[in-house]
Amino acid sequence: QRHGTIDLAVIPGDGIGPEVVEQALKVLTRAAGNAGLEVAPTEYRLGAEAWLETGETLSEETMTRLRGHDAILFGAVGADPKSAEVPSGLIEREILLRLRFAFDHFINLRPSRLFPGAVSPLSEPGEIDFVVVREGTEGPYVGNGGVIRKDTPQEIATEVSINTAHGVERLVRFAFEKAQSRPRRKLTLIHKNNVLVNAGGLYARTFDRIAGEYPEVSTDYLHVDAATIFMTTDPARFDVIVTDNLFGDILTDQAGAITGGIGYAACGNINAEGTAPSMFEPVHGSAPDIAGRGVADPTAAVLASALLLRHLGHEAAALDVEAAVERDMAGKGTAPRTTHQVGEAILAELG
Ligand code: NAI
Ligand code: MG
Repeated sequence: QRHGTIDLAVIPGDGIGPEVVEQALKVLTRAAGNAGLEVAPTEYRLGAEAWLETGETLSEETMTRLRGHDAILFGAVGADPKSAEVPSGLIEREILLRLRFAFDHFINLRPSRLFPGAVSPLSEPGEIDFVVVREGTEGPYVGNGGVIRKDTPQEIATEVSINTAHGVERLVRFAFEKAQSRPRRKLTLIHKNNVLVNAGGLYARTFDRIAGEYPEVSTDYLHVDAATIFMTTDPARFDVIVTDNLFGDILTDQAGAITGGIGYAACGNINAEGTAPSMFEPVHGSAPDIAGRGVADPTAAVLASALLLRHLGHEAAALDVEAAVERDMAGKGTAPRTTHQVGEAILAELG
């Protein structure tokens, strides 16, 4: 990282990806500028539309160039599922998953906060402000499995969950550091260690051991099924959650739903060891149903840029962006706004 400059790769992607990224980049550049930093963006055209034109998803050469940046701001990739031109799963596998595994994004970080002005489907949501630290490179998502005797009554399908001591340790350490840095200093491990005794045991033992190094962090454990109940009945009990790849995938969707929906959920794909650039994105996809109309909410992408700033060590600038979003949400009223209007409003709040 060159001093005072953020060397940023920007992957706008498909559909509403470029629409929300334009606003996020604008806000990011202003917030960084206010903190005396310069943003130097390099745009990469990747996604379903690029694949249709060039036949390429993500070349080795592009991977090498991406690797050289400080961080990646990512919109969304993916074709309209109704279009038969792009094989299902191709873009997800060859771009999203490829980046996550090749750049060792072992932390999938998803803050969940109920902003003033956001409407939760819960009748008494309470104060929702927690962060899920989800494992990103192991568990049942590694593709360790197969099928034999396909399409016969004797078919056998396996999907082996891979959990390494190294992988669990670096995840749990990150989560304790995150909990230590927040005012409530509370960390909840979520697993299913009464049934998944092998993987769950590794998680529980690692968690208990590292807990000894963080006496100021209070700890808790929940089975994942019970966790879904509390996420609905008492989400305010959570501060930082640490969990495996699969449970984290499901819980973060539930977390997004209780905090007012997909327009506000941001995510960091983080390589906390700094051996490759981390990637920050809105959780939502390319939303082909509303693409091209300029009505997508860019708030999630803007919040992703705050995560990016925080990751690069610019905490004050990250807090500025989050506070600007908070003020915008609180004052926005109920009239529909365009993507551009929301971006401009957040920019105005930033000053
Ligand atoms: P989606 O998140 O794109 O859309 C789901 C629903 O939420 C749609 O009705 C959409 O209009 C709405 N929505 C999403 N973002 C919004 C925003 N910022 N403001 C207002 N409304 C918003 O998920 P869907 O429809 O399942 O997937 C569409 C495409 O996106 C698919 O090709 C899928 O594979 C891809 N996708 C890509 C992701 C990524 O790049 N990380 C993540 C999820 C899906
Ligand atoms: Mg998901």
